[in-house]
Amino acid sequence: MRIDILCLFPEMFASPFEQSIVKRAKERAIIDIVVHNIRDHTHDKHRTVDDYSCGGGPGMLLKPEPIFEAVEAIKEQTNPGEIPIILLTPQGRLFTQQVARELASCSHLMLVCGHYEGVDERVREHLATDEISIGDYVLSGGELAAMVVVDAIARLLPGALGSQVSLNSDSHNDGLLEYPQYTRPKTYRGWSVPSVLLSGNHGEIALWRRREAILRTAKQRPDLLRKATLSTEERKWISESLSSQK
Ligand code: ADE
Repeated sequence: MRIDILCLFPEMFASPFEQSIVKRAKERAIIDIVVHNIRDHTHDKHRTVDDYSCGGGPGMLLKPEPIFEAVEAIKEQTNPGEIPIILLTPQGRLFTQQVARELASCSHLMLVCGHYEGVDERVREHLATDEISIGDYVLSGGELAAMVVVDAIARLLPGALGSQVSLNSDSHNDGLLEYPQYTRPKTYRGWSVPSVLLSGNHGEIALWRRREAILRTAKQRPDLLRKATLSTEERKWISESLSSQK
């Protein structure tokens, strides 16, 4: 998979993409990440990328020309066909594990990072094919959001993780938060690993984990539980568990 990132601060990406899973995915040629400076597509002496908001108001906006030209230059060098062009903006659709899976199935993506007060509306209207927000808060630019999106995608690509099994038990993979996990020592400061996990009974362990995932989701994220696929028996079990804990 290839991901082109268009931004004003390419240096920000150096360290996060040189660690851990993203680094390994790059080394294994599973992902190719190319970071571009939007400023390289300006034509004036000052390499101007921003300008005042028409109609007045505080702050500067990213101008459309360098962004359009950067996207067009990448398309010319790579694949002139349809490539998702994703604008990172707090106004976009919310980035979730499902969106990460959707994007991980693409062979090529472009991520456009806004900055300052925002981006000229014509970029959103006539260039971007999608808009993504990583959460309901405002960052100073789209660069951090692009890092989050790339990281979440990279670990989903076949071969990027040591074990595909670890994807299946991830939080959000099946609409539930992940069950509690323990490693050695069996007892630490008097706190013991639940005995079922040491029982060797895989059926019991699977049942315990499923129920703990449901319980944790019910407590921490009831919004997710309402949408999750649970059996009638599981729905009954969770409502009894919650009312017995009140
Ligand atoms: N740029 C600024 N804030 C953002 C957010 N929450 N998500 C994506 N891009 C952003």
